[in-house]
Amino acid sequence: MTKPSETTVDELVPIFFMGKKYDVPASLTIQKALEYAGYQHIRGCGCRGGVCGACGTVYRLPDSYKLQVGLACQTVVQPGMHLMIMPYYPGNRSTFDIEELSGTGAEVAALYPEIFKCIGCNSCSQGCPMDIDVMHYMAQAIRGDIAGAAETSFDCIMCGLCASRCPAEEVQFNVAILARRLNARYGIPRAKHLEERVKEITDGKFDEPLRNLMSKSKEELKELYKSREAEPQMTEEDWTPQDARYV
Ligand code: SF4
Ligand code: SF4
Ligand code: FES
Repeated sequence: MTKPSETTVDELVPIFFMGKKYDVPASLTIQKALEYAGYQHIRGCGCRGGVCGACGTVYRLPDSYKLQVGLACQTVVQPGMHLMIMPYYPGNRSTFDIEELSGTGAEVAALYPEIFKCIGCNSCSQGCPMDIDVMHYMAQAIRGDIAGAAETSFDCIMCGLCASRCPAEEVQFNVAILARRLNARYGIPRAKHLEERVKEITDGKFDEPLRNLMSKSKEELKELYKSREAEPQMTEEDWTPQDARYV
């Protein structure tokens, strides 16, 4: 998360959204500031916690020509910032049937031949809110290292901000998800326990418990939720300074 500005938390600061000025509390994230200003997020907002990738935002600070990118739910407003939320990035996306592929680097290159235009500028990595080494996974994709590209891009939230900064017009996030899908389908062993669980579901093992749940009232469901099996709560006596990192 970017650091709050040096203004006090309750102070109102001006921001410019789509060119229009709003005074908003200095402590708010861009997402909350826009709600404070009266906007309702129909698109451009999902998890509110930095994992869905729906709130990619382009902004510029006053007296600077530089365009910056970040997630609206994770970036605190700064006085005078001009911003625009970009819920969808219209990058190229190839279509494929995973069952007709075999998981080779040549297939990635055929679906995204533009990967070879990468000039190694690293703008993509610098703009990534997940601190992913985007340029590295693109290099792995270019080399045909599918498993490597899948591993390096594992935390990608598909926000598209890397692509928005790319002078070669790459669609890094779509290349990355192709690598992860190929790796999952052809690179790593099938998960036996998952196959077994899917079979249990299709055989109807959970039909009756689900029907039972659906027949309960809201109050009964609340009681069930409260009495569910859960991690034991920590008491004050159990607490050690090492636990501070979890607070
Ligand atoms: S790799 Fe690109 S799409 Fe994925 S999280 Fe980073 S900036 Fe967003
Ligand atoms: S921004 Fe584009 S050209 Fe630059 S390193 Fe990333 S993928 Fe390559
Ligand atoms: S709302 Fe999901 S990443 Fe910001």
